[in-house]
Amino acid sequence: MRTWIIRIVFALVALLACAALGAVALASYGERKARRHVELTVAAVAIPTEATAIERGRYLFRSRGCADCHGIDGTGHDVVNDGKGLHVRAPAITPHPDNAVARYADVDWVRTIRHGVAPGGRPLLIMPSEDYNRFTDADVGALIAYLRQLPPLPGAGALIELPLPVRALYGAGVIRDAAAKIDHSRPPSVPVPEAVTPEHGAYVANTCIGCHGAGLAGGRIPGAPPDWPAAANLTPGSGSAMTTYADVQAFVSMMRSGRRPDGSAVSPVMPFAALKEMNDTDLQALYLHLKRLPPRDGGTR
Ligand code: HEC
Ligand code: HEC
Repeated sequence: MRTWIIRIVFALVALLACAALGAVALASYGERKARRHVELTVAAVAIPTEATAIERGRYLFRSRGCADCHGIDGTGHDVVNDGKGLHVRAPAITPHPDNAVARYADVDWVRTIRHGVAPGGRPLLIMPSEDYNRFTDADVGALIAYLRQLPPLPGAGALIELPLPVRALYGAGVIRDAAAKIDHSRPPSVPVPEAVTPEHGAYVANTCIGCHGAGLAGGRIPGAPPDWPAAANLTPGSGSAMTTYADVQAFVSMMRSGRRPDGSAVSPVMPFAALKEMNDTDLQALYLHLKRLPPRDGGTR
């Protein structure tokens, strides 16, 4: 009897040791992956100077999540710090001379925002550039124009500390960076008029795919902390969250308040600080687009 217990204990210890070694090996492979060079030829976009374009850039900065992570004044701050090894700080992106972006050429901005790749070719790890890859040239240009005219306040640089399991999953390719998810050969979106149409809604919905999946069918968000709920199915398929929203008003008010029609709160994982900045045209167009999506089973992303 005792020898059996000893054997089982030994087997378990050996198994744990193998798992730990495997995780360390995968994590170190992940570190090499994070330092890889992503070669891209990036075309410049025109950077506008008119006030209306800068206002459009401000709107995108606030409503598409940039301000959430980089701070409303662009000086950067902690995105998450759980005190247990997960600490991410978005860098300052104002024109202050100490900030990396002060030395950005036009194409560096485009490469970072649309492709998730830093000027030296290093992939960005946390920034959801897959949500921004579909920006039209005009919208990328407007964002850059807005960011360049921000008051040049100082701020801290980027900080990315990830726990071993996350680094191992990244090494194993379960969690992928934006540069690995993006099809860099796709030409930029062709502009559609900004109006309450499903076509414009489809353009706005590009900012939901990082969490809800390319097909908007929802499911667990890869790399998310274990206590995050799965993203909802936004298509009319099985388990659809959209059945709660019989009319556009119900949908718009949830997107602004974070509350469902029955008053219950949607998880704050949904970035309501940014979403509530969306204007009526964007939200109403989104609704039309989501309602006409082909049905997909919930969780298939
Ligand atoms: C979820 C948080 C998050 C969101 C949303 C986000 N970023 Fe970032 N961003 C980061 C982090 C973290 C970094 C540091 C680099 C990395 O990810 O490896 C970064 C890096 C950058 C850089 C490179 C700065 C440097 O020091 O070289 C720029 C430029 C930038 N972001 C602009 C934007 C813009 C514009 C938007 C909105 C369209 C945006 N970011 C949205 C988190 C975010
Ligand atoms: C950072 C991740 C994230 C982003 C970005 C995001 N969502 Fe969500 N969304 C979630 C999660 C997680 C849930 C599930 C919330 C819950 O179960 O309480 C959710 C739930 C929903 C729901 C269901 C609400 C309900 O009644 O339960 C709708 C509708 C929705 N999202 C729409 C959108 C749209 C449209 C966008 C883009 C404009 C978007 N989301 C962007 C993470 C996100």
